[in-house]
Amino acid sequence: MPSLRQVRLIGKPVVFTASLLPLAWLVAGAAGVGGVDLGVNPVETIQDTAGIWALRFLLLTLSMTPLRHATGQAWPLQFRRMLGLFAFTYAAVHFANYLALDRAFDFMEIIPDLTKRPFIMVGAAALLMLLPLAITSTAGWRRRLGPRWIALHRLVYPLTILVCWHFWWQVKKDVTEPLVYSLILASLLGLRMWRSRRKTGMLT
Ligand code: HEM
Repeated sequence: MPSLRQVRLIGKPVVFTASLLPLAWLVAGAAGVGGVDLGVNPVETIQDTAGIWALRFLLLTLSMTPLRHATGQAWPLQFRRMLGLFAFTYAAVHFANYLALDRAFDFMEIIPDLTKRPFIMVGAAALLMLLPLAITSTAGWRRRLGPRWIALHRLVYPLTILVCWHFWWQVKKDVTEPLVYSLILASLLGLRMWRSRRKTGMLT
């Protein structure tokens, strides 16, 4: 098992670099370099790629505590903050792409979109919940907020449910992909509930 020093010196830089790859791919495609082709609808490709990676990073963030329990090692927790911040980064790219490239900041299109495509409101709610988590993710905020920090950061569970709903709602026909992500989330939530019940003595 890796030591905390190895995780800090090797593991974290490797995970950080790997986490930047989808973003680098999008930037290369948008700039037309490195032979990256974003397809016939680059705006949609950016939207979908950033959205799906935001969700993947949320699920990875939520997997770190169960991984810690399964391995009995502290190192998975070293990655939690970084993965959460990548979830926020990809969600911000997803939102900025919608606002700037898809809708060109035209609020006469954006406002009716909220009622015509209500899945957007669900996504916006998730993003608004993710924002305070990203802001307060530092050690300073953790210290300042004390036990309220844990309560605040529990928002990650309902917000990930909202993201799965947002994903599911915007799918036109085949729901396989959102179903798979929702099942992963359900398993992570189930694990968490099972552990907290066991801890409070409700399960033996
Ligand atoms: C104001 C906030 C948001 C807006 C305006 C927004 C907008 C959109 C739009 C327009 C699509 C559909 C793209 C298409 O038709 O192909 C979409 C899909 C998606 N969004 Fe969002 N979204 C928001 C927040 C979020 C957040 C916070 C997340 C994740 C953390 C997220 C994850 C996804 C995912 C996973 C998809 C499906 C991508 C795919 O089809 O592969 N969205 N969103």
